[in-house]
Amino acid sequence: MSSGGKEIWLGALAGVGTFAAGLAVYKGLQYVRDRNKPSDGHSHDHSDEYMLKCFGTLHYAAPEDYLLYDCVPRDVVGFHEKCANLCIKHRKEGVVSRAMEVGCASGRTSFELSRGFDSVLGVDISQAFVDKCNEIKRTGQTEYWLPGEGELGETKIAHLPPEINSSRVEFKVGDGCNLPALSPGPLGCIITCNTLCRVPDPAKLLEQARDLLVPGGTLVLVESYTWTEETTPKDKWLGGYKDKEGKEVDTFEALKAVLLPDFQLEEECVLQCVSRDAPRLFFWFLDHATVWRKRENH
Ligand SMILES: C[S@@+](CC[C@H](N)C(=O)[O-])C[C@H]1O[C@@H](n2cnc3c(N)ncnc32)[C@H](O)[C@@H]1O
Repeated sequence: MSSGGKEIWLGALAGVGTFAAGLAVYKGLQYVRDRNKPSDGHSHDHSDEYMLKCFGTLHYAAPEDYLLYDCVPRDVVGFHEKCANLCIKHRKEGVVSRAMEVGCASGRTSFELSRGFDSVLGVDISQAFVDKCNEIKRTGQTEYWLPGEGELGETKIAHLPPEINSSRVEFKVGDGCNLPALSPGPLGCIITCNTLCRVPDPAKLLEQARDLLVPGGTLVLVESYTWTEETTPKDKWLGGYKDKEGKEVDTFEALKAVLLPDFQLEEECVLQCVSRDAPRLFFWFLDHATVWRKRENH
């Protein structure tokens, strides 16, 4: 009996290690805060090397790396292209063709934005990510790790699709809560993907985005609304808590309250995204994508 219990316990511990890549992708920022802590190589590994590996897979793995079984929804592939396509679809004639992605990680969405914008700036707080993005821009390709069972897996190479014009894309290290210091000028589009609830002051990011966008420009938020005090002090959460009266604050409702005075809501949809931790273990995001157009009279 007791040995059975022990096996279960060891099994649960193994599970913690197995979930590491998906959790690392989901948490995103934590390694920046914890980067000086020693890494154990598993679920608490937030070293640059480990995060680059996780996001390299997330951004550059091929559809066939995910579509292994008939039951896997076809919609889970192409997340970053779909994020960029939303921006491109809502670009308005005559609005400056300059876009910024805040929290670009390994850069896939920023590269995809070059299909529809003359200039794109990918910003991330991590120097390691920005160095990686610049390497991909220079070489047009990147290696990524495709996790297999246990310690198995393979290193694969992904090439940037030929329609991507990487000469239009620049990457900069910077803080998404200090956008004016980063922007080369007024912007036609700003996008965040799974980053708004990973910065220390999301309201500040939204306010600065509003000020940097030209009238008619778009703010695209693709977010899972997974607030955590690991990255964002609770008094800065936009939603996901109970207010003083005990009423639940819903993030989308809060976004509407903050944004609708200056923006109109153009589209909302679900964008699926998966991170592959093993051939039979995927981490599945059902992000809420919202597209907000800055009102002309602002
Ligand atoms: C969860 S990841 C999402 C990455 C990418 N957008 C995606 O969807 O695959 C969050 C990203 O935001 C970056 N980040 C966190 N805080 C930031 C900040 N204050 N300013 C800029 N980037 C930040 C992290 O380094 C990380 O690359």
